[in-house]
Amino acid sequence: MTITTSEDYRDRFVERLSQNMPGRKDFQVASASGCTLTDDEGRTYLDMTSGIGVANVGHCHPRVVAAVQEQVARYAHVNVYGRFVVPEQVEMVDRLVAAAGPGFDMAYLLSTGAEANECALKLARKVTGRPKFVAMERAYHGRSFGALSVSWREEWRTPFEPLLPEVEFVPFDDLAAAAAAIDDRTAAVIVEPIQGEGGIRVPSDGFLPGLRSLCDDAGALLIADEVQGGMGRSGRWFAHQHWDVRPDIVTCAKATGGGLPLAAVLARAELFATFVDPPLSHLTTMGGNPVACAAGIAAYDVIVDEGLLDNATEVGAYLRDELSTMMTDFPGLLVDVRGKGLWCALEVSVDANPLVTRMQELGVLTGSVLNQSGTVRIMPPLVITRSEVDVFLEALRTTLGEIA
Ligand SMILES: Cc1ncc(COP(=O)(O)O)c(C=O)c1O
Repeated sequence: MTITTSEDYRDRFVERLSQNMPGRKDFQVASASGCTLTDDEGRTYLDMTSGIGVANVGHCHPRVVAAVQEQVARYAHVNVYGRFVVPEQVEMVDRLVAAAGPGFDMAYLLSTGAEANECALKLARKVTGRPKFVAMERAYHGRSFGALSVSWREEWRTPFEPLLPEVEFVPFDDLAAAAAAIDDRTAAVIVEPIQGEGGIRVPSDGFLPGLRSLCDDAGALLIADEVQGGMGRSGRWFAHQHWDVRPDIVTCAKATGGGLPLAAVLARAELFATFVDPPLSHLTTMGGNPVACAAGIAAYDVIVDEGLLDNATEVGAYLRDELSTMMTDFPGLLVDVRGKGLWCALEVSVDANPLVTRMQELGVLTGSVLNQSGTVRIMPPLVITRSEVDVFLEALRTTLGEIA
């Protein structure tokens, strides 16, 4: 297939692909490498979004490309969850449980974040036999019916009701509210340890350990949604590892497949045992696809071999320090900077969208978040260098200067 450089694709894209936003698209992607995207006119952009948290090892990392090419030439799909051993799945899960640490010895492989959360909610119901879920205000867990039921923003839930019947939302980082909601009907509490679409919100230190003990007291499970925060984004493999807390179930997706669709639900083997009774209590055709696993294995190994957790911590601290300094130059305009690792939010007192558009004109891709207006999301590939961060900072300074 030959891809041409033409206006034609722009029209056909909006004609042929079901759109969730009005209007034509900004540019046609030609290629991507590391932290850089190139458009069909040869213009380059510094990608401070990682395709929304997917390209943690950068775009087209040579080791991921080689692993995909090698695997697809051997076999792409055989029969997942059928009668065969698929060794790439074993290698992938070995790595994920090593990253998750004690308390996690098994995984169920899927393709997307919503699917992983769907599976986690089902698992919690099956294990506890209880109907109710407690979720957080500003939470985002995906758009399938179960995941949507525990996602906060009402305008996206209401048109699709009835959803799961017993879901109670409590403010994030409010243990008293959580204590009032968690009871002996609660199957699980689902929480993003650091909220992503809610505006990169880091909870206070007692919140997650407090949720853990509330769950223990009530006999409920704790599900950590690490779809956005996993695979090194915050400087640890999983965001909950910044605190002394062990969830019962962890979900991950996005960066897990090194750019290919791969998701996982991690838990203790005894929880997953309930999926065998009756057999096939949960099932997917494409989950744990061998090519996605090969890419995920390569991406995991890149994170280890290139020290990307440390890079996320160090370059992330540099980024936030510089942004905090910039806050003093633009008082009343740049009003907050928060985050962990290379997962950072800028809060501006004006509409964030024109800022994102202007940054793009200056060759830097940033983005907004779904559940908090005025927030600019910064989550570059974990391979980013300080000098690339400086390019971003310069474009931001220019843009804020124009707005001010
Ligand atoms: C925390 C979190 N959970 C779940 C999802 C849904 O993942 P997916 O879009 O792969 O279904 C997202 C997507 O942004 C997310 O940020």
